[in-house]
Amino acid sequence: MNALDDRYYELEKILGQEFSRLSAESHTAAIDRIEKIVGDENLDCDFLRVDGYLFLPPGGSVTDLKHELNAAHRAGLREVERVDDIPVGKFTTDGVLRFPRQAQFHPLKYLNGVARATTDRGSRIFTETRVVKVEDGDQVRIETSKGYSIRAQAAIVATNCPINDRLVIHSKQAPYSTYVLALRVTREVEHLLLWDTAETAEEEKQTLGPIPYHYLRFARDNEGDVLIVGAEDHKTGQASDFEARLAKLERWTRDHFPFVGEITDHWSGQVMEPVDGIAYIGRNPGDENVFVVTGDSGNGMTHGTIAGILITDLICGRENPWTKLYDPSRKTLQPTAVADYVAENANVVAQLRDYVTPGDEPDAEKIQSGGGAILREGAKKIAAYRDEQGTLHKFSAVCPHLKCIVRWDGCEKTWDCPCHGSRFDALGRVLNGPAISDLEEVESSENEIGSAVESQAELSGHRSSA
Ligand code: FES
Repeated sequence: MNALDDRYYELEKILGQEFSRLSAESHTAAIDRIEKIVGDENLDCDFLRVDGYLFLPPGGSVTDLKHELNAAHRAGLREVERVDDIPVGKFTTDGVLRFPRQAQFHPLKYLNGVARATTDRGSRIFTETRVVKVEDGDQVRIETSKGYSIRAQAAIVATNCPINDRLVIHSKQAPYSTYVLALRVTREVEHLLLWDTAETAEEEKQTLGPIPYHYLRFARDNEGDVLIVGAEDHKTGQASDFEARLAKLERWTRDHFPFVGEITDHWSGQVMEPVDGIAYIGRNPGDENVFVVTGDSGNGMTHGTIAGILITDLICGRENPWTKLYDPSRKTLQPTAVADYVAENANVVAQLRDYVTPGDEPDAEKIQSGGGAILREGAKKIAAYRDEQGTLHKFSAVCPHLKCIVRWDGCEKTWDCPCHGSRFDALGRVLNGPAISDLEEVESSENEIGSAVESQAELSGHRSSA
């Protein structure tokens, strides 16, 4: 969609009107590009043009909504308009904006189609090949975990959170977990996108990061329509009450959509939130031929497509008007962005307290099948998971990135790092960077606190120059 997760009004305040306009232009171009690819390649991926509606929750500020409408117009989205109602659902709201000609599609069907289209043209895709190093140079050198190396004119690291950049990017964005439910729809509905403005920080008791808001769309499976609704975000690894969050989300959904039936799925995903609300797409800071894509916030589908357009131009040496907007090396001096930057990084350093806290569970015997907990064994923190057969698996709880202590995520059954968002499956295998290696099965040494402090000091040094 070209309705930004972080709002045009906010973006204009942080980066100015021209960047706001370029942002709208790039997201609109991304939707058009996806539509063109779907048409040209004849992809069967449920692509549909739909309208999007931004609405105020009870007590929301009408003034803020008017500011957003005016900022969207200044950004070039002249067709955005204020309307009286949302066509679907039971809402009492003081204000709604309609963003016409958004789009939705089935991301995996689309991805499969694009993969097929590229391999048909001679590209090759290698799965199960873990990259552990990306070195810049006239020829980029890429190393895999099996010891192979690849040389290329350019490399693009598009791993949600970059695995090549140890420090700089990670101090400018923060990982957030978001929760999603899919519920069966029991009658015909008009497909649309829907999201509200955030609740207030006070209501959400959230002191860090963007305040969670609700986002919705409809999709179709073999049995009919489902409503997909998400919200209840928190900083990754820093909440363990996922059942309560899903229950609250379900109550909210049933209150507003009485026609939904059973829950067909639930999950949580990870969103990288950049401090100034704009993704990082372009040359990796300090590199010439290595590129990154990250900081997607809630606009991953369009940001991914923007990256395809922009990075192709950068590699081919073509001018692109969006280069500066998305430059991963940009510095944002606007006070609110700087304050968020300081708060997020102070939060990272605060996670080191985990080295001196007790474990979640004093007795490993109490960990249920399918469950996990952090144990304390002397000076060490151990990530312990009991599989469905009752066998206990133990790993060092020290994240291999910069040595924060991971935490158990009962919703996804993963170990999540509260610092920069690395995630590991229940058996310690890395799923999401910046970590590039698994949790160690061998228990960690007593020097962990010292080396963690060193790692974070290294990060602090970079922070002052970021
Ligand atoms: S992701 Fe950075 S310390 Fe774990």
